[in-house]
Amino acid sequence: MPQKEYLGIDIGASGIKGAVVNIKKGTLTSERLRLATPSPSTPNEVAKVFAQLVKELKYKGKVIGVGFPSVVKKGVARTAANIHKDWIGTNIEKLFSKATGCEVFVRNDADVAGIAEMNYGAGANRKDTVLIVTIGSGLGSALFRNGHLIPNTEFGHFYLKGHNKVVEQFTSDGARKRQDLSWKEWASRFDRYLETVALLLSPDLIILGGGGSKKFDKFESYLSFKAVPIIPAELLNNAGIIGAAGYAYQMEKAVLNLDV
Ligand code: BGC
Repeated sequence: MPQKEYLGIDIGASGIKGAVVNIKKGTLTSERLRLATPSPSTPNEVAKVFAQLVKELKYKGKVIGVGFPSVVKKGVARTAANIHKDWIGTNIEKLFSKATGCEVFVRNDADVAGIAEMNYGAGANRKDTVLIVTIGSGLGSALFRNGHLIPNTEFGHFYLKGHNKVVEQFTSDGARKRQDLSWKEWASRFDRYLETVALLLSPDLIILGGGGSKKFDKFESYLSFKAVPIIPAELLNNAGIIGAAGYAYQMEKAVLNLDV
């Protein structure tokens, strides 16, 4: 009988957040802890903070799920846009397993946030094409059709006409803060982003996750893009933690629709 509670950890460019999750309900059963991502965010330094977080949460289980901000294939980081370049080629699962003595399963952070929303949140029971966009230090994406994830999409990394930087560099929440943009200014950039992804993917629903999901009311009225319904993540920025825990559960073989 698999355990019902798993530790989910969401690794971001500025914070490492974790909590124990009841995977039947998709709810947190422990406090949510956040430790700052070390700078420089090299693999060994992040692994130390990761182990400290697991210790502080007094997790009794043996399996941990993790969302990580890069393309992740078979537990190995393949890109590093907002995290130290030394991560490229690092086996994240092995590194964190060694640091904690637990079995660790890792996927892209936006993919696990999407897994949470599709199972417990705004995308539950949706069979059509759902795009989750996470707004944080970068722009993450997760694409679902009939509840199935197409992993490692990187829809924050294309170029818009007239720009020499990838779109997340001027449309993420990180860019808004760095450039001190008003919500109206930022929303006009995000509008262009939405128009482009909608043109390319024809989603039926767009769910906004990440830290930006908590600020939806600040920019919703400035968005002129109306072609596709846009809603904030129901699990707000806990989606990453909950989805990571759900993914760990799936890897131990369970019953949820987490076929990824
Ligand atoms: C990374 C993605 C990640 C997103 C959100 C991007 O810079 O390339 O893999 O999902 O940031 O953290």
